[in-house]
Amino acid sequence: MAEPTKTATLTIDGKSYELPVHSPTAGPDVIDIRKLYAEAGVFTYDPGFTSTASCDSTITYIDGDKGELLHRGYPIGQLAEKSHYLEVCFVLLYGYLPKADELEKFERLLTRHTMIHEQMHNFFRGFRRDAHPMATMVGVVGAMSAFYHDSTDINDENQREIASHRLIAKMPTIAAMAYKYSIGQPFVYPRNDLSFAANFLHMCFAVPAEEYHVDPVLARAMDRIFTLHADHEQNASTSTVRLASSSGANPFACIAAGIACLWGPAHGGANQACLEMLREIGTVDRIPEFIARAKDKNDPFRLMGFGHRVYKNFDPRATVMKQSADEVLDLLGIHDNPTLQVAKELEKIALEDSYFIEKKLYPNVDFYSGIILDAMGFPTSMFTPIFAVARTVGWISQWKEQLADPQLKIGRPRQLYLGETARDYVEIENR
Ligand code: SDX
Repeated sequence: MAEPTKTATLTIDGKSYELPVHSPTAGPDVIDIRKLYAEAGVFTYDPGFTSTASCDSTITYIDGDKGELLHRGYPIGQLAEKSHYLEVCFVLLYGYLPKADELEKFERLLTRHTMIHEQMHNFFRGFRRDAHPMATMVGVVGAMSAFYHDSTDINDENQREIASHRLIAKMPTIAAMAYKYSIGQPFVYPRNDLSFAANFLHMCFAVPAEEYHVDPVLARAMDRIFTLHADHEQNASTSTVRLASSSGANPFACIAAGIACLWGPAHGGANQACLEMLREIGTVDRIPEFIARAKDKNDPFRLMGFGHRVYKNFDPRATVMKQSADEVLDLLGIHDNPTLQVAKELEKIALEDSYFIEKKLYPNVDFYSGIILDAMGFPTSMFTPIFAVARTVGWISQWKEQLADPQLKIGRPRQLYLGETARDYVEIENR
């Protein structure tokens, strides 16, 4: 980390403390409070970490006011238009745009890690067929540490690299197997002649009874969805992966923890919740009823796919996703899709409503993604697993960055204690 550029003065009970201030290459300055408790005997208090930087990072930057998202400095709009998911994986992992031979080597390497240990097929059969695929993925990914012992030593750079490639390459296979298992169809093995996205679609939708040809436009849309979900600073699931890794846990356990956190409807589970909400709304004339519920403080209902901790402007991913939704539905000949009509009208009404304007609530990445995935033939239960497949490279990149950080120490927050002070035990006969 660079040397502090200035200092902040904190005065408590008449005593002043000088705190170093670090200036980033982009974004707000940060006040370094690492010595605060030792010097002033106080904690800071920030439930939900709304004003807290948990680490320094060079991977992804978000400007919530501008609606800007950069991966290693490259704007998400340019990556979505000009790049493809495995190249974005390289950029996130290694920090630069690869030359043609580097990219070819990287893609060939990952392609040869897409199969999972044959014994792991038995894991799936331990689940009920109606298990949510996220439950299956948490279980199977966590169990990978029981199979890939030669890539669990986080202190070995080579093992970290192999674990990274295995996880990124095997997540689509595991997600597709979870889907196939849930619909009672046989597993489809990965194919080395297909791109990452085409391979995923093939593993999900091919059946042994006939040839399955992946539509290149759908493969492109799938690849773009993966790119748009690849990484996003220190979001809840990435912070979970970092915290799990800070104890020295193996990479498979850390990614399983990230999958578990992503599942929540306030986070990665929002894409499933959003499509289910759009279906519940059903028709444009019911939108006012749901807008009223979203604004009602006594109603826990929130507009799924709306709002964001960081974006107080459009989520740039939602903008690209909306364009992609139109393209995919048009390609599939799905015109006047009622769900898309409701989504577009809901977005229009919400963005004109003073509640949403004041609270700076805009559509996020989850608002349109479900419409595309639904049109491609995925059940809503597969939406968050697809998010997990895409985000694995982000989790892994952040995991590697943290392990290489000389400041790394186990994450152990403190608290504002409001419970009982010390009191003596009372025997039951005296209570
Ligand atoms: C993702 O962090 C990331 O980067 C996440 C992510 C990634 O790529 O990793 O971008 C992926 O998780 C996107 C977000 C998906 N979640 C949803 O779409 C669920 C619906 N959205 C909300 O639950 C909410 O907006 C959050 C969780 C996304 C953000 O919540 P915050 O930052 O804690 O904001 P908040 O709850 O404090 O809301 C601020 C105000 C509140 O009102 P007041 O208490 O100030 O009166 O806005 C209101 C909220 O009630 N509000 C909403 C709303 N979201 C916030 N009101 C109605 N509908 C909503 N969707």
